[in-house]
Formats: sequence, structure tokens, C-alpha cells
Amino acid sequence: MTHAIRIHETGGPEVMRWEAIEVGEPGPGEVRLRQTAVGLNFIDVYFRTGLYPLPSLPGGLGMEAAGVVEAVGEGVQTLKEGDRVAYATPPPGAYAEARIMPAARLVKLPDNIEERTAAAMMLRGMTAHYLLRRIHRVEPGDTVLIHAAAGGVGLIACQWARHLGATVIGTVGTDAKAEIARAHGCDHPIVYTREDFVARVREITGGKGVDAVYDSVGKETFMGSLDCLRPLGMMVTFGNASGPVPAFEPALLAKKGSLFLTRPTLFHYTSTPEDLNWAAGDLFEVVGSGAVKIEINQTYALKDAAQAHRDLEGRKTTGSTVLLP
Ligand SMILES: NC(=O)c1ccc[n+]([C@@H]2O[C@H](COP(=O)([O-])OP(=O)(O)OC[C@H]3O[C@@H](n4cnc5c(N)ncnc54)[C@H](OP(=O)(O)O)[C@@H]3O)[C@@H](O)[C@H]2O)c1
Repeated sequence: MTHAIRIHETGGPEVMRWEAIEVGEPGPGEVRLRQTAVGLNFIDVYFRTGLYPLPSLPGGLGMEAAGVVEAVGEGVQTLKEGDRVAYATPPPGAYAEARIMPAARLVKLPDNIEERTAAAMMLRGMTAHYLLRRIHRVEPGDTVLIHAAAGGVGLIACQWARHLGATVIGTVGTDAKAEIARAHGCDHPIVYTREDFVARVREITGGKGVDAVYDSVGKETFMGSLDCLRPLGMMVTFGNASGPVPAFEPALLAKKGSLFLTRPTLFHYTSTPEDLNWAAGDLFEVVGSGAVKIEINQTYALKDAAQAHRDLEGRKTTGSTVLLP
């Protein structure tokens, strides 16, 4: 019997139920995966609470997993039974022991990438890729600000930005997280729960401001983040860990230095096979070379996903978290 975490209504972690599911056979262009590791991401919380709507209810959660192909549908040329693959893509439903997926959304894993590592990095790492390589191409000599620097996306982005030659300023909730961020490429961790991060960024940059801010915290940090940028700097608001950013007048961007602002989502940056392979290929390279280490600091049994959500929302996790079917 195959099991999955499903929700029948949106709400707190308690709405997640461990249920028996029927997986069936893959149709044309699809494969069936036996999943060996599932990634936990903050976006799963947004779907569970209803901040982002699920396609239907009851429904599954989870956007990222790795596993082994166990059946191949008609017309699939790129994959065969036994291939090790991973993905980071809608629709939600990755919290499952097995799953049918479109072959085109899967990436074959190189021999040097373990399935747990893949489940810990595909979504977070390809996000770091578009943040640092596409939205604002980080160059040697840049200074960037990365919020929640000890988190899943944060730890990967700090290491990658440092590898590209940037000076990295990061915000973190505690002193212990500051040490973790520092050990992963963050030159200047700021404990924003007690320090004024805008004042500290101004101080660190000699009043100049940073070239880009990568802000996944949202409501609590957005306005302050604008004040950390140099004129013509790039503001990337890409998450809502503290709540969604409220509406504001675009003229504010002119007042604060003709700033650029974008509110991206990974899935637009990986929607074509070319873009998906670019992001995954660059990620495999920096992880394979050791420039970026994927830290799996928490694992949970998949059926205990509710506890994993409590810990993620409670700011108790660092680095990546993997759920084990
Ligand atoms: N748009 C995209 O394409 C995209 C893709 C991936 C991820 N994201 C976003 O990136 C962020 C990071 O995702 P992740 O999965 O790697 O999570 P994470 O960073 O491991 O966890 C979230 C972190 O946010 C910080 N935080 C600040 N205020 C918070 C609050 N009120 N409640 C909870 N956490 C708070 C906490 O770190 P401190 O205690 O250090 O403050 C917490 O550990 C999320 O906002 C996610 O939605 C966006």
C-alpha cells in the first residue's frame, strides 16, 4: 500500500493526514517514481495555510523530491526504469511514497549527487541560481544582502554568492544561526532580531548600500530592505516567511534611488527544458565541485511532516530539511 500526506482543508500543521493512495500507471509522457527523499520548503506552508491556493481539495503538498523511475509511460525517450531523478515543480503532491510525474519536469541525477542531497537542493538551489545568475548577475566586487541567511535557500545562496566573488551580508534570527551562516560564506551576519539591519548594512558598506537584496522574509523586512540598496539597486522580494508584503506606491522606488523591484517565482525560471537544464546543470556543478555544500540539518519520517512544518514555521530549522518516505 502506498501512502501520502494529504489535506482536506487548509489550516495548521494538524490538517496533514497520512493516507493510503492509489498511484496507478504512467500515461503518455509520464513516469512513475518510487520516491526516496522529499524536500521540505516554506512554500509547502503557504499551500497548507491557504496563502497560496491548491489546485483542488483534498490534495497533496510538496514541490520537491528525488527517487527512482519504476515505470515508464508511452513515448518517454529520455528516461528508463531504474534512473535516479529529482524535481522541483508544481503541482503540489511530492509528500508521497510514489508518484506519477511528467518526464519533461524531471532531471536525471549525476552519479555524484545522492538522492537525499537532491531532495535538499533542487528547489532551494535552482532558486539561488535564478536569484544570483539571472535576476541580478552577481559579479566579483558586488555586495549583496541575503535575508534568513541560515535557512534553506539562505545557506545555499550565501555560499554561491561568495563563490561568485561577492561580499555577503546576511540576516539571521539568533547568534547560533549567525555562526552557521558565517561558516557558509556569509561575511557579515546580522542578528536582525536585536540589531537594526538597515543601520548595520549602511555601516558595513560605508554608507553606499548593497547592489542587490534577496528578501524572502517579506512583510517584516521589505521596507528596511529598500533602505539597504544603493541607487539603481535591485530589490528581489521572493518570499513571505513573516507574511506577504503590503501594497505600496511605486513612486517610493524613485524616492529611494530609482530602484528595480521584482517579485519572481522559480517555476517561471525553469518552465522550459533549456532553462531547467541550465539551472540544474549549474547547481550540480557548484555542488559537485564543493563550492556549495548542501547541509541537511534536519530529517523527519514523511508521515511526521506536521512536526517538520511546526519546526520550520517556528524558525527552529537551519539549512535544508528532508522528509523520508
Ligand atoms: N519565489 C521563489 O521562487 C522561492 C523559491 C524558494 C523559496 N522561496 C522563499 O524563500 C524563503 C526561504 O525558504 P526555505 O524553504 O529555505 O525556508 P527557510 O529559510 O529555511 O525558513 C524560513 C526562515 O525565515 C526566517 N523568518 C523570518 N521571519 C519569520 C517568521 N515570522 N516566521 C518564520 N520564519 C521567519 C527564519 O530564519 P531566521 O530565524 O534566521 O530569521 C526561518 O528559518 C521562503 O520565504 C520561501 O517562500 C521562494
